[in-house]
Amino acid sequence: MPRGRSESGSVEKPARKRRRLLAAAAVLAVVVLLVLPVFSTLQPGYYGRYPDLRVRMDHWRTSTHAKMSCIDCHVDPGAGSFLSFAARSVPAFYSQLLFGPKATNLLQAPDRQACQKCHTAYRQVSPNGDLLIPHRAHVEVLHIQCVFCHKSLVHSANTRGFNSPEMATCLKCHDGEKATNKCDKCHTRKAVPDSHKQADWLQVHGARSKTIDCGSCHNWTPDYCGDCHKKRPPTHVGNWKENHAAEARQRGDGCLVCHSMAKFCKNCH
Ligand code: HEC
Ligand code: HEC
Ligand code: HEC
Ligand code: HEC
Ligand code: HEC
Ligand code: HEC
Ligand code: HEC
Ligand code: HEC
Ligand code: HEC
Repeated sequence: MPRGRSESGSVEKPARKRRRLLAAAAVLAVVVLLVLPVFSTLQPGYYGRYPDLRVRMDHWRTSTHAKMSCIDCHVDPGAGSFLSFAARSVPAFYSQLLFGPKATNLLQAPDRQACQKCHTAYRQVSPNGDLLIPHRAHVEVLHIQCVFCHKSLVHSANTRGFNSPEMATCLKCHDGEKATNKCDKCHTRKAVPDSHKQADWLQVHGARSKTIDCGSCHNWTPDYCGDCHKKRPPTHVGNWKENHAAEARQRGDGCLVCHSMAKFCKNCH
């Protein structure tokens, strides 16, 4: 005769045992229903089910941070932040199961605290040495978020196809009023090029502009060339093309501050 049966005594015992089992099963079910969403949303693979996030996922996989999980950046350090994420993940998970994976707002743009789990803010110069970028001044003094500049870090490429910050972002503040826009305050190698240092640059730059791409440096300043060209000296008014003779006879040398006799005046004379 099997042992179990001989030992089971009265009639109430299995009923109580069943009730206890039911209670345990109920608790277990609740725990699973709560833990499953949190566990799932911690896995990067989970986000692949949202069609809206696929482009972001693809970029992330080829980024320098491909080995970092989503929550490394998208959950701030500390137990409080994790609990808040866990609490939000439960409704997000079930809503996605019930109504289909549409957009999710579970992950927000990272706070700088998240980046600072792994990085410091003490960097001064870019790796290639060309750029001066005092991180501490911008992050700790001016309170700029890392993602303000590093917005193309993982999920997209910038307009030049890189993941690094763009100059246009800097120029939002560095407009010559709120902060400096002098090229050599930020660049150590893109300052005034040698070509410009020759004495007659002002006279020959026009010809050079046909062979060198001036825009790579000068398109940053709105209408750089035009501003100067419109700023003709006060003499150059009215029908100057025809009336310059008198002035030229009077002070011909003065003209040569800007014009080259050989290349400019001789064009017509
Ligand atoms: C190295 C840090 C990092 C990692 C890892 C990372 N992200 Fe991001 N994520 C960012 C940054 C920076 C932004 C803000 C710029 C942007 O919108 O692309 C962002 C923005 C987002 C946004 C938009 C948030 C909003 O409200 O604007 C979503 C959604 C997102 N990430 C999803 C993911 C997913 C899914 C993963 C994992 C597969 C992931 N991220 C991994 C850094 C990261
Ligand atoms: C979990 C740790 C971790 C977190 C969080 C993290 N990073 Fe990184 N980051 C790294 C590591 C490691 C590297 C070096 C990767 C390599 O060189 O292969 C790196 C590289 C970088 C680089 C240089 C490479 C590149 O692609 O330009 C930048 C810039 C950067 N991180 C910025 C950030 C910012 C901004 C955040 C916050 C949104 C962030 N990181 C969050 C670990 C982290
Ligand atoms: C004001 C804009 C700005 C802010 C804010 C900013 N950065 Fe940067 N960061 C840059 C620029 C520009 C570079 C140089 C990028 C390059 O040349 O590739 C850089 C470079 C870096 C690098 C080195 C990149 C490499 O290739 O090794 C890391 C890491 C980095 N930043 C992390 C951070 C973190 C973390 C924060 C926030 C605490 C932050 N940055 C805030 C503009 C900024
Ligand atoms: C939110 C506004 C803001 C943004 C964006 C910003 N800066 Fe600045 N930056 C400032 C202010 C304000 C100062 C201090 C005033 C000054 O020096 O003109 C400053 C100072 C600097 C300095 C020191 C200038 C000096 O006089 O020595 C450098 C270098 C610099 N920033 C580089 C950058 C770079 C590179 C970027 C883009 C990657 C950038 N900044 C983006 C506001 C900003
Ligand atoms: C506030 C800082 C800052 C100032 C001021 C600044 N730059 Fe930049 N510049 C950057 C950053 C950041 C980048 C992007 C990183 C890189 O490519 O080196 C950049 C990129 C460039 C590039 C390469 C990008 C391209 O599209 O070819 C050139 C050329 C350049 N700058 C020229 C200039 C010239 C010329 C000036 C003066 C009119 C100037 N910069 C002023 C920060 C600055
Ligand atoms: C590598 C970057 C770079 C390139 C390329 C470049 N410049 Fe410049 N240029 C500068 C800088 C920096 C200055 C001085 C800053 C300023 O005045 O805004 C300057 C100044 C000038 C000036 C004013 C000189 C003066 O004496 O006042 C002229 C004119 C000029 N550039 C014309 C050109 C022409 C034309 C080209 C193309 C053939 C060209 N530049 C290509 C960076 C560049
Ligand atoms: C401060 C610099 C400067 C001085 C000095 C100067 N010019 Fe000019 N001049 C210009 C500029 C800028 C232009 C326009 C160039 C362009 O747009 O192609 C110009 C254009 C001209 C033209 C062509 C007119 C036209 O409508 O296209 C003539 C002719 C001319 N200048 C003659 C003179 C004479 C003669 C003198 C001396 C009396 C003189 N310039 C002094 C800057 C100067
Ligand atoms: C500092 C003021 C200044 C700036 C900035 C400037 N120019 Fe000029 N530019 C002149 C003057 C003055 C002349 C006439 C010089 C001469 O003919 O001897 C001229 C002449 C020219 C000519 C020849 C015109 C002709 O009729 O033969 C061209 C082309 C030209 N500039 C292109 C450019 C371009 C492109 C830029 C911007 C990258 C630029 N300039 C920026 C002052 C300037
Ligand atoms: C766009 C063509 C053009 C350019 C460029 C030009 N000139 Fe003239 N210039 C003329 C014409 C046409 C006349 C004749 C006008 C008249 O006689 O009324 C003239 C007449 C003159 C005269 C008077 C005639 C004489 O022989 O005494 C002088 C001096 C003169 N130019 C000097 C200059 C100087 C200096 C420059 C360069 C800075 C220059 N011109 C550039 C077209 C030009």
